[in-house]
Amino acid sequence: MFNQVAQDVHTLHGQVSQEGTEVEMSEYLSRFSLEAVGRTALGYSFGPLDVHGTDYSLALKEFGPTLVKLHLWRPILPWLKWLFPLSVLRAAASVFPWKVVRHMQAISDNVYQTSREVLRKKGEAIKQGDAAVRQEIGEGKDLISILLRQNILGLEGERLTEDDILGQMSLLLLAATDTTSASITRVVQLLAENPKVQETLRHEILEATTHAGRTLFDLDYDAFAKLPYLEAVVRESLRMYPVFYMANRVSDEDALLPLSEPITGTDGKPIHELFIPAGTTIWLNMLGSNRDPAIWAPDAHEWKPERWLAPLPASVADARTPSVFANMSTFAAGPRSCIGYNYALAEMRIAIAHLVLAFKFTPSDKEIVWKLGGIVSPSVRGSDSMKPEFPVVMSRV
Ligand code: HEM
Repeated sequence: MFNQVAQDVHTLHGQVSQEGTEVEMSEYLSRFSLEAVGRTALGYSFGPLDVHGTDYSLALKEFGPTLVKLHLWRPILPWLKWLFPLSVLRAAASVFPWKVVRHMQAISDNVYQTSREVLRKKGEAIKQGDAAVRQEIGEGKDLISILLRQNILGLEGERLTEDDILGQMSLLLLAATDTTSASITRVVQLLAENPKVQETLRHEILEATTHAGRTLFDLDYDAFAKLPYLEAVVRESLRMYPVFYMANRVSDEDALLPLSEPITGTDGKPIHELFIPAGTTIWLNMLGSNRDPAIWAPDAHEWKPERWLAPLPASVADARTPSVFANMSTFAAGPRSCIGYNYALAEMRIAIAHLVLAFKFTPSDKEIVWKLGGIVSPSVRGSDSMKPEFPVVMSRV
């Protein structure tokens, strides 16, 4: 499925000359990630990738930056919901004298209405029977079709309400789209800045495809994961540039947190563990852990895909960093870790392979800065746009 979506990179060919054209890739890569999750998780297509700026994709993109502006006020939301009916809160939000609140309401209405429309169409197809489902993208094997079928078969009392399903759909779309597209954008930027790495990567992919008489469409999930240099580029980019640089957790009970290195107290004595009372919010510094020289080697702050081609230092395993992937914190760990990390990895490998085979990337004259919102997102220095921006010069290979 990713391969099919990635095939649409060819829609970019029309915009790119042989010698090099500056292309705004951010919008395009967001649409790519949205289309990938649309087809695989929802069994729904949001349309051709070169149709940009639909209200829906803009709403998803602006969700993170807008949410960050409201961050301080979030703790009062449960209280407001408890005190007032939803209709009163809606009416109040629509006249609230702060633009950010009204904007958040418009975003959330848009995501909700789109999810509802997708759900309505899926419900109808399932009611019409197998033939109608087979007409659908993915033939009804997507997550929401499976959930809906189980819901129909499930026992009374075990079924999810429509609002539950809509909530799951919106969460999936929000969690899957900008995270993965920002990570792919970062890889494209790093490849543009490191022509040697880009060339080595293209060479590896050509060896596995054209030179072996195959195309990228002949490679399956395992084959993509077994391209060592591609894997090294993906891992090193996720290590150095996790899109969620911090996450928080609240301790359920009193606990002692052991420290990897002792810190010195105000009395001059070393402290080896911290007492964490129940209810304490703890911020996890994922970026810091991924770049800790004591764990990853003194050159931990450098982007070096080659580090993954040799055995990693013993300190990486010894650190026992809570992790679901490659000893890094990028996808968090434990019961609230990322449920889509394998999906994200597959999407990244396939998108990057298609892009590198089709285009050469060089940096644009415009300086790219990454803004720390809910997730990091690219922007041009000096621009006040709310939307992510990533101009890059592309030439056809
Ligand atoms: C490179 C891309 C991605 C990164 C770096 C990433 C990272 C993360 C992180 C760090 C969390 C935990 C957030 C927190 O605790 O505050 C998370 C949660 C989550 N992710 Fe991802 N993610 C990515 C892609 C995806 C994709 C593609 C999907 C779905 C297909 C997905 C689905 C989710 C969901 C549903 C959660 C919430 C889990 C829960 O709260 O129980 N993510 N992700």
